[in-house]
Amino acid sequence: MKPDDFITTKAGIKMPKVIYGTAWKKERTAKLVEQAIVTGFRGIDTACQPKHYHEAGVGEGIAACISRGLVDRSKLYLQSKFTSVNGQDSNSIPYDPKANLSDQVAQSFQVSLNNLQTTYLDCLVLHSPLANQEQTMGVWQAMEKLVISSGVKQLGISNCYDLKTLEDLYRAAEITPAVIQNRFYSDTEYDRTIRDFCRGNGVIYQSFWTLTANPHILADNTLQSLATKYKRSAAQVFFRYLTQIGIVPLTGTTSATHMLEDLAIFDFELNPEECAAIGTLL
Ligand SMILES: NC(=O)c1ccc[n+]([C@@H]2O[C@H](COP(=O)([O-])OP(=O)(O)OC[C@H]3O[C@@H](n4cnc5c(N)ncnc54)[C@H](OP(=O)(O)O)[C@@H]3O)[C@@H](O)[C@H]2O)c1
Repeated sequence: MKPDDFITTKAGIKMPKVIYGTAWKKERTAKLVEQAIVTGFRGIDTACQPKHYHEAGVGEGIAACISRGLVDRSKLYLQSKFTSVNGQDSNSIPYDPKANLSDQVAQSFQVSLNNLQTTYLDCLVLHSPLANQEQTMGVWQAMEKLVISSGVKQLGISNCYDLKTLEDLYRAAEITPAVIQNRFYSDTEYDRTIRDFCRGNGVIYQSFWTLTANPHILADNTLQSLATKYKRSAAQVFFRYLTQIGIVPLTGTTSATHMLEDLAIFDFELNPEECAAIGTLL
C-alpha cells in the first residue's frame, strides 16, 4: 500500500484505508493472512474469539511474512478484540470466565499477544457493548490500562448501533474510542447518526458485511455504470466510494483475485458528483 492509502487516527496511528478481516477461515487462516500480506494488505483485523477466529493462525501468517523479510511488524496495523463471555462459545472461552471483567480483559489480551506473536496491538476493540454502562465501563477501563502500559496503541468499540451508548462511553472514557467497527447495512440506516458522531469526534468508522449486506447497491445502475466507466467491479467502486467518505471497509475475501482488486481501489478516484450519486443509495 502507498503512503496515501493510510489514515492517521486521532491517536496518531497509521491505519490502512482497507483492512483484511480474518473471521471464519479456520485452518486456512495462516495461509490466507500470509497471502493477504504478500498481496499488499498492511492492516489485519482479528479477535480473541475462537468461535469465529483462529487468532493463532493469524499470528502464524504474520510470522511467516516477517521471517521471509516481506514486512516489519512496525509496518503492520494489527487489531484484535476483547469478546465478553456472552460472545464466546462456552467450550472455548480463551480466559477464565469466573475472573472479574478486568482480569478477563488482561488475560484475553495476553492470549492475543501470544497468538499474534507480538508485543503490542495497534488497536484493541471491545467486540460489543456489555449489558449495561457499568459493565461496559468496567471493561473499557481495563482496556485503558493496556494503553497506559503501552501494550495497546488505541481502543475501539464494535457492534455499537445505539448513539446514546456510544456517547455515554465517549463521555465516561479517559481514553476515547479511536475506532468503531459496525455492520454496514440498511437496517441501521447505514449508521448515519453514528457516523455523524464519528465525524465530529475524530472516530474512524470501519465497516463489515459491506458487500454481503448490500447486493442491491452493487446491482444498482449507478454502481453498474461507474463500474463500466472505470473498468472496475461494482464491489471496487463501492469500496472506493467508502474510502473517499472516510469509511475503512474490512474485506475477508479468500480469493487471490479479490485481494488484488480490493487493493487496486486506490488506483482510481470518483468525482464529487459520482460520490453524491452513490450517497443517495445509503
Ligand atoms: N466486529 C464484528 O462483530 C465482525 C463481524 C463480522 C465480520 N467482522 C470482520 O469483518 C471481516 C469481513 O467480514 P464481512 O462480513 O465483511 O465479509 P467477508 O468475509 O469480507 O465476505 C465478503 C464476501 O463477499 C465476497 N466477495 C465478492 N467480491 C469481493 C471482492 N471484490 N472483495 C471482497 N469480497 C468479495 C467474498 O467472496 P470471496 O471470498 O470469494 O472473495 C465473501 O463471500 C471479517 O473477516 C472480520 O474481520 C467483524
